[in-house]
Amino acid sequence: MTTRQALPLYHTSVSSLRVRDFLDVRLSANAAYWRSVEEFESAYGSAHGAAEAVLVPTGRDGLRFILEFLRTPGRTRVVVPALGDSSIMEMVLDAGLVPVPAPVRPSDGTLDLGRVEPLLDRHVLAVIPVHLFGRACQVERLAEMTSRQGIQLVEDCAHAPLTQHQGRWLGTFGIASFTSFAPFKLIDCGGGGMVLTNDRRLAAAVRAVARRHVPIGLGSLAARSLASVALSLGTSRMPYDLVGHPLYLRMGSGGHAVRFYEDRVRPLLKHGADEGVRGLPALPFVRSGLRQLIGLASRLGNQQRLAGLLRRGLPLGLLLEGDAGSGSSEYAQVASFADRDRAMRVLVRRGIDAVPNPAEAWGDCPVARRLQREGVLLPWFDKMADQDVDLLRKALVEAAGTIGHGPGAAFD
Ligand SMILES: Cc1ncc(COP(=O)(O)O)c(C=O)c1O
Repeated sequence: MTTRQALPLYHTSVSSLRVRDFLDVRLSANAAYWRSVEEFESAYGSAHGAAEAVLVPTGRDGLRFILEFLRTPGRTRVVVPALGDSSIMEMVLDAGLVPVPAPVRPSDGTLDLGRVEPLLDRHVLAVIPVHLFGRACQVERLAEMTSRQGIQLVEDCAHAPLTQHQGRWLGTFGIASFTSFAPFKLIDCGGGGMVLTNDRRLAAAVRAVARRHVPIGLGSLAARSLASVALSLGTSRMPYDLVGHPLYLRMGSGGHAVRFYEDRVRPLLKHGADEGVRGLPALPFVRSGLRQLIGLASRLGNQQRLAGLLRRGLPLGLLLEGDAGSGSSEYAQVASFADRDRAMRVLVRRGIDAVPNPAEAWGDCPVARRLQREGVLLPWFDKMADQDVDLLRKALVEAAGTIGHGPGAAFD
């Protein structure tokens, strides 16, 4: 029996891709490609008030290139949040450095600065605050803490492009930042990312490595599109990755099959997918990226308005939420339930296509492990109608009423 999902987890749109740009892929000389790249870079940089923006093959590559530039003898450690995307850990290791997982806050999953401070010493090269799910980490305070000790701040803005915090753009609080244009990010170029910085030397070094990568060819573009369509047939869910697929949901989280998939299959898929597409986005995607950037402010505005509607009347602490007055792109909504499986059953019965929190947890941080174990990623996109948000809100109220919700007192 299939459950018909009234509210799909993701909404994909190809409206920003233009057929004539695809024709150009075949016809264009290299010069046309690099002109579009430079146009995108310069628009991205000036939208954020940054002197330099550099297109990179993936967000994680952007981080690796930055770390390789910053490398300093004697400073071998990099402080990263204990909750987030595993690519951050991998890149720190790839750069020959040691990741130090730091505690996160129960309210929004961003770095807990009180607990980060004791980790900062003369062996630390950099701290990487992640604006998880769009909620701004307290970067203004972190910038002060790190600069006192000669430690670099490198923001992960994969979930927070064009997002203001304390009157300033996220991504401009430290020496450099990076964002991702992977599928389903706020700007989706099917892959790719951007590094932002005011440091000309850093930009030149990153550009020199990034430009060694060639744009993804038509063959891989076609293969990726086919794989994406095949995996999302009959659903509107995430391609390349079976988490969120109806089959996966029906296996139930925590079951043997799921664990086998998570431990054995998913890492292979992830790695394979990343390796297969490591290249700069092709011309149609670069042009589409620029168009998406131009429309982003209004899309974010709508998303922020919808987030206000969603929170109205919801129990406090049910959703991850930053401090009052801090910035947020509202990229995703994540709720926490003590009994996640039961909560998800209530949501699915209500037609809400929810999946377990996709963030991963590392190190000795009970808050991160709990947010990962109890978190539910909810359907969320800027084209949702107000009635959809209302449906979601009512389902959350019902689930919270039957089950109770986190974060609980056992956190500390
Ligand atoms: C928070 C976060 N940081 C970094 C990345 C890495 O970006 P990319 O996939 O472009 O390497 C992602 C997404 O994959 C992410 O969600």
